[in-house]
Amino acid sequence: MAFPETRLRRLRRSKPLRELVRETELSAAHLVQPLFVTAGESVREPVASMPGIERLSISEAVAEVTEIAAAGIRAVLLFGIPASKDEVASEAYDDEGVIQMAVRALKEAHPEIVVVTDVCLCEYTSHGHCGVIRSGEVDNDLTLELLAKTAISHAGADADAVAPSDMMDGRVGAIRRQLDEEGHSGVPIIAYSAKYASAFYGPFREAADSTPEFGDRRGYQMDPANAEEAIREARLDLEEGADVVMVKPALPYLDVIHRVKQATGAPVAAYHVSGEYSMLKAAAGEGWLDERAAALESLVAIRRAGAEFIVTYFAKDAAAWLAEEARR
Ligand code: PBG
Repeated sequence: MAFPETRLRRLRRSKPLRELVRETELSAAHLVQPLFVTAGESVREPVASMPGIERLSISEAVAEVTEIAAAGIRAVLLFGIPASKDEVASEAYDDEGVIQMAVRALKEAHPEIVVVTDVCLCEYTSHGHCGVIRSGEVDNDLTLELLAKTAISHAGADADAVAPSDMMDGRVGAIRRQLDEEGHSGVPIIAYSAKYASAFYGPFREAADSTPEFGDRRGYQMDPANAEEAIREARLDLEEGADVVMVKPALPYLDVIHRVKQATGAPVAAYHVSGEYSMLKAAAGEGWLDERAAALESLVAIRRAGAEFIVTYFAKDAAAWLAEEARR
């Protein structure tokens, strides 16, 4: 039946009516807050390109998680900024490294919070690439060993899940095998399966001090023009033992989120990345956009595309906004 029998506006006439027929739910339970944890004491260092985001030393991160948890967020993703970097990313897999110590402190203070760790070498290498360099290139298979060691040391510190973001081939399998061998068969892998070589990581690289010293990441991260390949990546990761497949960035890749979800049926995560956050913050700062409305609309769109959960720098604020909206 067509107009005038059918009038789709009937169900849009009031807020409760709209909410009765809403197809997509967005709540704090779907959001993960990334945190930058830095070596040192009592550090709270603002990241210039990401208003509202700071690099935190461990005790400050524990305090921040108290606030995040009070807002209703139940999961965090940790990135480490080590005291020193070298060619082989030694601090990434040091049991006394900044992330390992942060995980222990966080799990002790907040056992109920899901602590996920980013597993990558770029924050720990002196050259800023995500793996070991050999003959001017990131060597895939040498890197696998170090990534597996990193994941083990995170699991040993009591991380609830590990999230490899390096885009080496075979890393999910290497990490899964090693975790299982060393008694961590219960620790899930959230694989950054379709991670694109994106300009939207710019602000993150300032925050994590991980800009590659030479070249770029196009030799390992995906070409933004490809979507079929994202499905292959996701399928391979699942075959290797991934528990969740992630697409990153989020808004420019909603079609990829949707396709990966349709093709695999697996739990899908999306990473609403630093550049996506900074764009909204900058426009809102100029008074050109309503920050809250634009951020919540972005997050619901990512959920609608098919993501179960979203890693976003807006998590803490979005949780507060959603709680306020529910009370209205
Ligand atoms: C590490 C890593 C990056 C991001 C997450 N993990 C940076 C990169 O690949 O250069 C980006 C996250 C963001 O932009 O918010 N490999």
